[in-house]
Amino acid sequence: MSLLTPLALLVTDIDNTLVGDDSSLENLNQILDRCRRTWGTKIVYATGRSRASYQELATTKQLLTPDALIAAVGAEIYLGASATPDPEWINKLSVNWHREKIVAIASQFADLESQPQSEQRPFKVSYYLSASVVSAVVPRLQALISDRGLDVEIIYSGNKDLDILPRGGDKGTAVQFLRGGWQIEPSQTVVCGDSGNDISLFKYGMERGIIVGNAQSELRLWDELHPADYHYLAVAHCAEGILEGLKYFRFVE
Ligand code: GLC
Ligand code: MG
Repeated sequence: MSLLTPLALLVTDIDNTLVGDDSSLENLNQILDRCRRTWGTKIVYATGRSRASYQELATTKQLLTPDALIAAVGAEIYLGASATPDPEWINKLSVNWHREKIVAIASQFADLESQPQSEQRPFKVSYYLSASVVSAVVPRLQALISDRGLDVEIIYSGNKDLDILPRGGDKGTAVQFLRGGWQIEPSQTVVCGDSGNDISLFKYGMERGIIVGNAQSELRLWDELHPADYHYLAVAHCAEGILEGLKYFRFVE
């Protein structure tokens, strides 16, 4: 029997990854709580939601208090209980980000329907877009934005959400930023997700990756095209899938 690896950092998306099945969430929470006490494991939520929307969810679901919250698909990082986004991260994202120009370009596309005001953030512009027109719209949108000398990431998730973020403003880069600051090894870090806005969690480093069994096609497809033995596709859904992956990587028994 091989020894367990100490889990130093667990990063997880919230909707349909951590949250989705209440009883397996409760079970995982107990295990993560034990990891925290044994190894001082840090827990980070990386969500597409704004901080306000995360807080709303936290009133209805049992969520452990995280050590940091990556909100708005990576456009904001909140350390500890801080209510203001990390200024160093904001400074990084501010370079060559011109929100109003992006909104003006996007307004030329009739298929892009603006998301509610609460999900529009200083460093994130979000729309709904039908899956049937994505392949026609996104390359044109990308080209128009690049023509203006702007460099952004366009991320499509769950067959409906389109987010425009500053280059390097995604969840994965935010994790690299936190992990570097905390001096945690990728081999002791786990990232978990289910949809398009989680792809960046898996693509930059050699963190152990868990894709839950209910993952969306865009993440599954990406995983098929980028096979890596440090990524695990779980059978179980949501929190139970995370637990299955933690066992696979020998972080828990
Ligand atoms: C969350 C956010 C939304 C975003 C989506 C995908 O649902 O509220 O703004 O588009 O995640 O990233
Ligand atoms: Mg999700």
